[in-house]
Amino acid sequence: MAINILAISGSTRLQSTNHTLINIIAAMYAGKAEITQFDGLSQLPHFNPDDDNDTPPPTVTAFRDRLRSADGILICTPEYAMGVPGSLKNALDWIVSSMEMSQKPVALITASSMGELAHQSLTGTLRVIEADLPDTSRLLIPFVKAIVRDGAIVDAPTLESVISVMESLLQGIAASRSKP
Ligand SMILES: Cc1cc2nc3c(=O)[nH]c(=O)nc-3n(C[C@H](O)[C@H](O)[C@H](O)COP(=O)(O)O)c2cc1C
Repeated sequence: MAINILAISGSTRLQSTNHTLINIIAAMYAGKAEITQFDGLSQLPHFNPDDDNDTPPPTVTAFRDRLRSADGILICTPEYAMGVPGSLKNALDWIVSSMEMSQKPVALITASSMGELAHQSLTGTLRVIEADLPDTSRLLIPFVKAIVRDGAIVDAPTLESVISVMESLLQGIAASRSKP
């Protein structure tokens, strides 16, 4: 069965570098995995524990279903104001109790001007919701606008690191699929 990876960009900007990065990775792995981008981050309501019940908002249910049916998750995100972009953190808050990322293979690429603080913070959040996120599936790409240009990853060491992170994610997916 084809490998199905759900990609989530922490940037909702139309010309986002992180969207471009996801598109580049999706094209690179076209024969190996189907990488589709979740485009509903902006439609998720603000997280409210009162609504986190048996009948959550429909967009939340749709988001949770997409996560559940994915073999793995690829998150690419910038850092905003020394932290995680609010829309991405909001999405993750919606799955703290429902646990769709529990034991799910996840790769995290923080592609930003700097990005260290968002990267650390997201690593902590993803691990607390029990995502399968080994260090080999994490990558920080600072100075991203000099590295992802004209629809390509123009820095060879970064390209190698991206491949290595994706291979780690695919290994995680293979391991999780072989579990009884
Ligand atoms: C409101 C705002 C705050 C930002 N704060 C940070 C920051 O704290 N650290 C950082 O590395 N980049 C910061 N940036 C720059 C973004 O990382 C950079 O523009 C990045 O390319 C955005 O990702 P995107 O191209 O996928 O939208 C900020 C950008 C905006 C719009």
